[in-house]
Amino acid sequence: MRPTFHIMTFGCQMNANDADWLARTLIQRGFVPSPLEEAELVILNTCSVREKPERKVYSSLGRIARATRHNAKTFVAIAGCVAQQLGKRIFDNFPQVRLVVGSDGLSFVPDAIERLRAEPVLRLCFTDFSDSYIERPLEITLHSRPVKPAAFVNIMQGCDNFCAYCIVPLTRGRPKSRSSGAVLSECRTWLEAGAKEITLLGQNVNAYGQDLAYGASFTDLLRCVAALPGLARLRFITPHPKDVSPLLIRAFGEIEQLCPRLHLPLQAGSNRVLERMGRKYDRTQYLGLIRELRAVRPDMAFSTDIITGFPGEEEEDFQDTLSIVEEVSFMSSFSFCYSDRPGTAAERLPDKVDATLKLERLARLQALQERISVAWLQKRIGDNSVLLLEGASRKNFGVGETWQGRDPYGVPVNITLSAGDGKIGDLLPVRVTEAKKHSLRAVLA
Ligand code: 5AD
Ligand code: SF4
Repeated sequence: MRPTFHIMTFGCQMNANDADWLARTLIQRGFVPSPLEEAELVILNTCSVREKPERKVYSSLGRIARATRHNAKTFVAIAGCVAQQLGKRIFDNFPQVRLVVGSDGLSFVPDAIERLRAEPVLRLCFTDFSDSYIERPLEITLHSRPVKPAAFVNIMQGCDNFCAYCIVPLTRGRPKSRSSGAVLSECRTWLEAGAKEITLLGQNVNAYGQDLAYGASFTDLLRCVAALPGLARLRFITPHPKDVSPLLIRAFGEIEQLCPRLHLPLQAGSNRVLERMGRKYDRTQYLGLIRELRAVRPDMAFSTDIITGFPGEEEEDFQDTLSIVEEVSFMSSFSFCYSDRPGTAAERLPDKVDATLKLERLARLQALQERISVAWLQKRIGDNSVLLLEGASRKNFGVGETWQGRDPYGVPVNITLSAGDGKIGDLLPVRVTEAKKHSLRAVLA
């Protein structure tokens, strides 16, 4: 019987992409994906960026233990940021856990799993940081399942900005850029396999190359990726405003494949809070970037991340956040209440904001954002756009087949097509006919 596995993943797109790579690699090695109850190997890919992540890990481990109690052979591998933080300590209370692997250890997982299966009392832990990006064998795994039209490619990992609230520099280590040759070769492989869109991933993508001896630049990398045959759309997450260079702004006006959407984390609208956060830009500089990007690309839309209730945040500071959100008119935003992360500078700051107040501010911010997002979607009605078809829609509108795709802004769009009018990976010209709360409807143009 072939061994079975189940992956549970939390957190950012990099984690999701790591989980995808692991799944492909395990399938390549003869493993079969299964429901949790039937899994011999369970991989828990963790995130520690916000709110009680350890507790989430412990409750997931409890759930795994209950679901697999009839199977004495089942063991658990923990990966990601919480694994990096806790290391071997996880072994103490959780007998099912036999592999702990931090941010730089993912490439060792497939071999480690084979060893653990062969040696039933062994336990392994890989939490050392590496000095450079560790490559993983992509090619052999690519054909193990159909390729999605939108691919994700890591270009770097780690961060050394040490924003006061952020645990990432402690869990992912210093920035490690991948060589541009390796990035391009992975992109080429995805495109040859049928992908049309590529999103470049990293904790601080636009600092790409600064740690490499030969000083590659992010904008050069974008130009090289954009020149690859078959690429229709190019995106990247997550950039830092302080590293948005004039060259990058110019690239938005020149590289046709770059989508007119930028996720640019703001975190706060008040200069005093930005300074305490150690973000290294102020309100005027952030607004300047938005203005310059709109000047080279008038159809540009922005999304962002915002924290409410950072230590010392007063009502007046929060008003600055509300006003900048109005001024930029973000198409969407992710917003969170500040929470202390262990070992960060903000953990040690005085003037912590009361939990109720943080939540109240979050609710006010989200109400404002919702109003702006709904208006942004409404304004799109009547627009001509292009849809990248990703698959059947969960919604069904009665006549014909309903498909879902994404527009250049990454917004989900539903469309009803007659048989033969479209297949996964097609780029279809459409006209937007209706706006829902978080999606659009369209017809063929
Ligand atoms: N508290 C609240 N939100 C946080 N983020 C990062 N650290 C914290 C924290 N300690 C948010 C930031 C970041 C996003 C990924 O998570 O907004 O951009
Ligand atoms: Fe965290 Fe700041 Fe690095 Fe982003 S840039 S990962 S918020 S430390």
